[in-house]
Amino acid sequence: MSAPRRPVLAGNWKMNHGPSDTARFFADFLNRLAPADDRSVVFFPPAISFAAAREALQGRPDVRLGVQNVHWEASGAFTGELSVAMAKDAGAELVLVGHSERRHVFGETSDETAKKVRAVLDGGLVPVLCVGETLDERNAGRAEAVVAEQLAPVLSIIRPDEVAELVVAYEPVWAIGTGVTATPGDAASMHHAVRERLAQAFGREAADAVPVLYGGSVKPDNAAELMSQPGVDGVLVGGASLDPGGFAAICGAAG
Ligand code: PGA
Repeated sequence: MSAPRRPVLAGNWKMNHGPSDTARFFADFLNRLAPADDRSVVFFPPAISFAAAREALQGRPDVRLGVQNVHWEASGAFTGELSVAMAKDAGAELVLVGHSERRHVFGETSDETAKKVRAVLDGGLVPVLCVGETLDERNAGRAEAVVAEQLAPVLSIIRPDEVAELVVAYEPVWAIGTGVTATPGDAASMHHAVRERLAQAFGREAADAVPVLYGGSVKPDNAAELMSQPGVDGVLVGGASLDPGGFAAICGAAG
């Protein structure tokens, strides 16, 4: 049997918390969270707050940072974009790729998502690949098919020796920012479906090593139950990660 996966507690701040709020957040949050090596805590602040986050996290290697998006090109005339190398130079270890807001608000396609995952792996960072169906797709009985369609172009460009670097986040679009969470049973069955796809592509042992996180209206009062489901290896938290006390409580619910 493979080693147990460490729970991952990730906060996606989206377009919230500028540099001053970031400094205030960590001054409070780090007092509430004792360092521990049996879990992985990660924040995705806005790029402009990254330096403030890094400064606040000096001496806390147990809390890691990632960026919310990158471009697949290495450099050039791409106003408003970040490259993987820049993110790495700034101290990022992970990159969110294919978040539902990138796909549905900014029109990112699964092929673009795959190009970003390729660039992130080539640059030596960890992609956190987000997948998830809309409510219409779920009601049409297509939830697993949609997630499989989103995974396929990415899995086809990952080499077997790179699977260990991958993190997947299952985030049903209808649960993001809505206050409606997938039932623990639905989350477990979708996580199972994701892992079966990984196993088909790379074999059981490699698939078993990939952390699969749940995201979508995770709060302090539902985090423990979601994380106790088989195959749910942690959470990707939006709104509730903006509050130091709330996110510390979610971190405390792991394990
Ligand atoms: P939410 O967002 O927790 O506010 O629903 C989750 C996400 O988008 O990653």
